[in-house]
Amino acid sequence: MVEGKSCSVPSGTEAYAKLYPDKSSDGQLRLGNVVPDFHAETTQGPMHWYEYIEGSWAILFSHPADFTPVCTTEIGRLALKYDALKSKGVKLATLSCDKVDDHTKWMDDVVAHCENNVTIDFPIIGDESREVSIAYGMLDPSNKDDKGLPLTCRAVFVIGPDKKLKLMMNYPASVGRNMDEIMRCVEALQLSAKHSVATPANWPNNHESIGKKGWAFLLPTVSPADAQQYFPDHHTCKVPSGVEYLRLSNIGRETTEE
Ligand code: BEZ
Repeated sequence: MVEGKSCSVPSGTEAYAKLYPDKSSDGQLRLGNVVPDFHAETTQGPMHWYEYIEGSWAILFSHPADFTPVCTTEIGRLALKYDALKSKGVKLATLSCDKVDDHTKWMDDVVAHCENNVTIDFPIIGDESREVSIAYGMLDPSNKDDKGLPLTCRAVFVIGPDKKLKLMMNYPASVGRNMDEIMRCVEALQLSAKHSVATPANWPNNHESIGKKGWAFLLPTVSPADAQQYFPDHHTCKVPSGVEYLRLSNIGRETTEE
């Protein structure tokens, strides 16, 4: 059950986000910054990024190189999540520094190697000039004109409808990403954008031992009076300090599967 009046509580998540500058002062992209715009060639034709993501949640997912084993599995597994991402209003594009022609040829391998029947319905950006990779901090500017190596890292940028960076992951080439974790992050971000909650460690697999699996914490910005008014059924966990900050609400169960 979702508590009824919670939508009216001022969004603590927004209050936290406003503490970060729209533009970083040193050119390094960080959480809370407005992400850089760009134009690029993709497997679906020319792309203007801001136009593509306008008003939506979005994911930019980079991979080190085409025709490499881990990347092949990653794009296939991401394709299996594409419908679920679309249903959450998330636009998706992937990127590497290879040519769009290479991306297109490689897709036959990706589909063949993914035992589930997949189609790759999202654009794959060809960032041969490395301009996007550098603007997003995936490569150091000093590597711009290097041939071949170094490769872009495995980065995931989750961007909000306000074009601000909400979450960033960086993995090395040697570790493939977990697509369930990316979905979990999208759900957690969307939940906390809508309600003044933050998701605990391992959410939605949290607090099962006290019968509150998948519940989320009220943000510290929710005053005790607002907690009573908007989350009347919340549960405060007792701790030795006596401070009442571990306030769980069943709001977190709204988007999770049993
Ligand atoms: C891979 O996708 O398997 C990979 C790509 C670049 C370097 C190492 C591994």
